[in-house]
Amino acid sequence: METLKWACLLLVVYPVGTITLNYDKERRANLKETSKDGLGDLILSHKKQNWTRCGDNMCQCKGYQARCVNHGHHLTYIPRFKQKITKLNFTGNYLPFIDNETFTNITEFRVIFLVLRNSSIQNCTRNAFNGLKSLRSLFIRNNTISSMELMDCLSGVTKKLNHLDLEFIYLDKPWDLDLDKIMTDSKITNLHLRSIDITHYNQSKMSTLKHLEIIQIYKCSINTVTLGYSSTLKKLEFAHNPFDEFPTFCVNGYAYFPHLTYLNLGHNNIQSIKPELLTCMKFLTRLHIDNNRIHLIESNTFSNLPKILIVSISYNGPDMVLQEFAFNSSSLKELYLDDNDIYFVNGQKYVSKDAFKYCTQLEELRVSSNHFQFTTSQMFKETFSTLVNLRILALANGGVQFLPSFIPKYLDKLNTLWLGHNNIIYIPEGYFNNLNSLQILQLNSNKITTINPNTFSLGFFKQMKSIDLSNNTFSCNCELLWFINFLKTNPIRKRFNHFPKEYTCGSPTVFNGKQLLQVRLSEHTCAVTEQVRIIIISVSTGILLLLLSISVVYRYRWYLRYIIYMARFHHVRYQRLLNGGGNYMYDVYLSSCDVDFDDVIYDELVPRLEEGMGLRLYIPQRDGQGNKIDQIISNMDASRKVMLFISDKYVEDGYCEFEASFAYNKYINEKRDLMIVVVLRELGALNVTKTIHKILAVDHYIKWGWDEESVELFWLKITTAINNLDDLIP
Ligand SMILES: *[C@@H]1O[C@H](CO)[C@@H](O)[C@H](O)[C@H]1NC(C)=O
Ligand SMILES: *[C@@H]1O[C@H](CO)[C@@H](O)[C@H](O)[C@H]1NC(C)=O
Ligand SMILES: *[C@@H]1O[C@H](CO)[C@@H](O)[C@H](O)[C@H]1NC(C)=O
Ligand SMILES: *[C@@H]1O[C@H](CO)[C@@H](O)[C@H](O)[C@H]1NC(C)=O
Ligand SMILES: *[C@@H]1O[C@H](CO)[C@@H](O)[C@H](O)[C@H]1NC(C)=O
Ligand SMILES: *[C@@H]1O[C@H](CO)[C@@H](O)[C@H](O)[C@H]1NC(C)=O
Ligand SMILES: *[C@@H]1O[C@H](CO)[C@@H](O)[C@H](O)[C@H]1NC(C)=O
Ligand SMILES: *[C@@H]1O[C@H](CO)[C@@H](O)[C@H](O)[C@H]1NC(C)=O
Ligand SMILES: *[C@@H]1O[C@H](CO)[C@@H](O)[C@H](O)[C@H]1NC(C)=O
Ligand SMILES: *[C@@H]1O[C@H](CO)[C@@H](O)[C@H](O)[C@H]1NC(C)=O
Repeated sequence: METLKWACLLLVVYPVGTITLNYDKERRANLKETSKDGLGDLILSHKKQNWTRCGDNMCQCKGYQARCVNHGHHLTYIPRFKQKITKLNFTGNYLPFIDNETFTNITEFRVIFLVLRNSSIQNCTRNAFNGLKSLRSLFIRNNTISSMELMDCLSGVTKKLNHLDLEFIYLDKPWDLDLDKIMTDSKITNLHLRSIDITHYNQSKMSTLKHLEIIQIYKCSINTVTLGYSSTLKKLEFAHNPFDEFPTFCVNGYAYFPHLTYLNLGHNNIQSIKPELLTCMKFLTRLHIDNNRIHLIESNTFSNLPKILIVSISYNGPDMVLQEFAFNSSSLKELYLDDNDIYFVNGQKYVSKDAFKYCTQLEELRVSSNHFQFTTSQMFKETFSTLVNLRILALANGGVQFLPSFIPKYLDKLNTLWLGHNNIIYIPEGYFNNLNSLQILQLNSNKITTINPNTFSLGFFKQMKSIDLSNNTFSCNCELLWFINFLKTNPIRKRFNHFPKEYTCGSPTVFNGKQLLQVRLSEHTCAVTEQVRIIIISVSTGILLLLLSISVVYRYRWYLRYIIYMARFHHVRYQRLLNGGGNYMYDVYLSSCDVDFDDVIYDELVPRLEEGMGLRLYIPQRDGQGNKIDQIISNMDASRKVMLFISDKYVEDGYCEFEASFAYNKYINEKRDLMIVVVLRELGALNVTKTIHKILAVDHYIKWGWDEESVELFWLKITTAINNLDDLIP
């Protein structure tokens, strides 16, 4: 740009003499401009000046440029200009008939740049451009003209023309693009055609154009291509045509375009690209085949392109498969594979884990808008961990479920990381610690709920140029308070893209959709809630422990009581035993539950035992008074035998269970056959507790029978048991 400014200054200072000298520079500047944005306004080189009216007040001039635009039928000729004009933009007027008179008003100016767009050209004679000997760039667009007429017209254009630009020309029949015939030996370097019906492209019909460097043919419905030799061609673009096949550029290793550096076959219908089709292009640096239907990249497809830097195969598929070593290349630096419907799932059918092996020079990889929802951490690692020189990685919009660990582990040169529009939920602590070169990070439109204070260091924020966390579902609670405060106060927030508008809460419901900055969560409230949280936690833990111990105590209450009383009465009992075991106050301690007591026991058993047999009975229900447990222990100690009347109800009664376990323990400790076990009713299976089970296992228990015979048998057994004085167990 600097040189350009100087050139303009020179032009102003020496208006006439140096013009030819500067033609070339200017032309190149203009070409640059036009090739960039599709034919800009050429104003750049004269920025400081204003546009002024000129050319019969129909045009505007600035420096050596004039533009006469959009007057339609009011402007039907090329007007006279007072000052010198070398560039004329004549667009949107009415010029149906062009002949050798049409340009007489500007012939003297040595016009180099002429735009004739949208001016309804219908007829154009062979000698129409004869006068414009200095013409270097010609733009013709949107005219209805016959193809014969167009050929005639172009045949009169100077051979020194460099740049021919034809767009939207509606011909009566497909144009036979035979430039050898109409522009023989032309020095044209740059041919740009768009939206003209051509159908067949035959390179042999341009063999006399020895300077062709750039050919761009867009939307010309070319379906067959016959290539021929051109040593000068550097850039070829056949985009938006309906090709089915990748054209043949190589024949037996011989290249039609040995110096081709740029090839764009985007927006065609190409279904496959084979390694052997690319073997001869030794200077190719950029290859674009976007928007085709390629669904397989074979092994070593690009490995014979020694200078290749950029490969772009986006918007292809469906279900693109990548074979092992597909991108084997010692030079490739940028690879674009966006939106190819690739499933990054290992296996022959999808992506070989070695697809990206041997392209270690790669600095930029774009694989956004493919399928990563099934990709495991392991697969990520196996597939991408060799790309240690990556500086830019685009992995957006692919259903990525988590932040893959291979990124911080292997890609420490990474500068730009695009992970927006995925399903990432959280950022593992320290994930970015190793990424010391990272400057641009996009994690927008994920499902991240919180940012921990340890996720990003302050140093990390400082190293970042831009960071996008917008459109996540932040959980606006006390955990996020630090982040909200950070964004409120720290100037680094300027580096957050789309802040503050698109940083909103996803939860809790009260804050849903609210901007983080508008959330009122005070330090105080959070501190209080923290205290409350601690209190709640400790109180509930306490209550839980209490409940637990209560239930344990309750569960083992009889056992615990037993232990306590055992300790207390151990001494007493010991004394008693010392005083001669036979000295009992009672013959039988009668243990039964209250419910059973009345029925059989009180009415039948007690009278017969006491009156009939003259036994001294202790019956807690009748003789007991005061503390029941004390009573049980002291009276059982004072009894020679204990009669246990077991039934379902007995088992459910806590005191009875205590009596039973106490009796059993006496049996164990004193080694005395003191228990007489009577089963009143068959027990339900659930009621056979541990103690009862042990008791029933000790002895042949006696069953109560309801018929007369059983009753007699019962009494026989009872009598035997009671009279068995030899009650010491051997
Ligand atoms: C010519 O003028 C038209 C209309 O203002 C404008 O769109 C175009 O960019 C200009 N330049 C060229 C090279 O067409
Ligand atoms: C261009 O126009 C602006 C106002 O539109 C004026 O201020 C400026 O001086 C003009 N420049 C020249 C070089 O005439
Ligand atoms: C040349 O310009 C003049 C005035 O601007 C105009 O009247 C005349 O028709 C033009 N000549 C041609 C051949 O267009
Ligand atoms: C073409 O010219 C007509 C007037 O003749 C104008 O209305 C229209 O917008 C122009 N189209 C373009 C693309 O310049
Ligand atoms: C235009 O061409 C015709 C012959 O086709 C000729 O008679 C006429 O003089 C030419 N006019 C100019 C201005 O060259
Ligand atoms: C202009 O071209 C049309 C076909 O596009 C043709 O029919 C007509 O005769 C031509 N007019 C002249 C004067 O050459
Ligand atoms: C072509 O020009 C016609 C008017 O002449 C206009 O209606 C149409 O939009 C233009 N088309 C293009 C593609 O510029
Ligand atoms: C291509 O052009 C050459 C030279 O005009 C011709 O001999 C050849 O037959 C053409 N090929 C096709 C396929 O049209
Ligand atoms: C990679 O490409 C080079 C160059 O074509 C070749 O020599 C090498 O065998 C290829 N590597 C593999 C693993 O296929
Ligand atoms: C925000 O994210 C949701 C899903 O996470 C997405 O559907 C939506 O398009 C995103 N909005 C913007 C503006 O990116």
